[in-house]
Amino acid sequence: MAWSVQGKTILLIVGGGIAAFKALELVRELGRAGGRVLPVLTENGARFVTPLSLSALAGAQVRTSLWDLEDEAAMGHIQLSRAADLVVVCPATASLMARAAGGQADDLATTLLLATDKPVLMVPAMNVRMWLHPATQRNIATLRSDGITVMQPDDGAMACGEFGPGRLPEVPAIMAAIAAFFGAKPLAGRHALVTAGPTHEPIDPVRFIGNHSSGKQGFAIAAALAQLGARVSLVAGPVHLPTPAGVTRIDVTTARDMQVACAAALPADIAVMVAAVADWRAETAPHKLKKDGKALPPLALTENPDILAGIGHHALRPALVVGFAAETHDLIPHAVAKRLKKGADWIVANDVTEGVFGSDSNHVHLVTASGAEDWGAQVKQAVATALAQRIAAHFAGQS
Ligand code: CTP
Repeated sequence: MAWSVQGKTILLIVGGGIAAFKALELVRELGRAGGRVLPVLTENGARFVTPLSLSALAGAQVRTSLWDLEDEAAMGHIQLSRAADLVVVCPATASLMARAAGGQADDLATTLLLATDKPVLMVPAMNVRMWLHPATQRNIATLRSDGITVMQPDDGAMACGEFGPGRLPEVPAIMAAIAAFFGAKPLAGRHALVTAGPTHEPIDPVRFIGNHSSGKQGFAIAAALAQLGARVSLVAGPVHLPTPAGVTRIDVTTARDMQVACAAALPADIAVMVAAVADWRAETAPHKLKKDGKALPPLALTENPDILAGIGHHALRPALVVGFAAETHDLIPHAVAKRLKKGADWIVANDVTEGVFGSDSNHVHLVTASGAEDWGAQVKQAVATALAQRIAAHFAGQS
């Protein structure tokens, strides 16, 4: 896979953790792909890898201290923080992320993070309890809402003997996340099916049952997947939004139309079901229902098919099925239950009491088999980019 890091400069901050040795492998991969690495080692990082091995692999001087006058003479910390195309923190420890989230500048690494005007990617690695601790999750939500990309750690056995999320992601997944910043197409050759918008269920020729969905989040996700190179089939309910570049759009009105269009779009590698499908449909009257001054018209409702569940249990089930959950209370328990019930791999959960419909921002939680991550409040485009990058990293980690 070509990583698109050719000619790019990456400022790599290596934090202190047992996973620091994997940063050496990352430096080697970046070098092989034609990237240039400016390495920075924290004081604790230097307990796990030596400055010598890092500088030998990077082919560049390692910087460790804010107070190293020689470094300041050669390149000040402000200049250093801007000399790269991308800042990568790997491994990002709980403490480093806490200090960055708090805006501290008490060593070279945190000072660079505060002073940089470049995009930042954090690759966390820590003990599972530390990862799941509300303080860490709060800090990650803060970093994400500050525009920093924080990767999800891998699940598995840890150096400390415990098991769960917290392992450093594999190097190919980190490379994919880095390459995504440089316009790489990590999803080239993959087909993604996306649903978006509401459905309208006609009651008679002039009336329908609908909902407030604007389609903005689904359209942004279709656009973000296309930007990463996926072939995208976007099955859209009735919305007035322009079709994103490089996306094939199939317009539908009702849930049953949407179900048929989704089945026809298979096979796909990825399904992201964002649509707010109307749960019920009415029997459609052939003529406009008239007020006759007597009884109100009966509205006999029938439950619509669950399109996500159908895809999640389909013979041609995409390798990665992502659903959404719109909730007004008990967000995470409902999302966890929906993930299992509908056969989805991930659920993007949002609290719709927070004014999501029609708005440009969205506060989501990603629920996977490993638990729930709070992504903080972000504009819908940022949620879309983060989700598309996460999908790309998922596939990169598998190959
Ligand atoms: N969904 C679907 N088909 C339906 C209903 C929902 O494909 N008939 C999908 C949505 O696109 C979303 C997920 O299922 O990805 C969850 O939708 P949501 O409205 O949150 O949940 P419901 O299944 O409608 O459950 P409830 O109304 O009980 O919350």
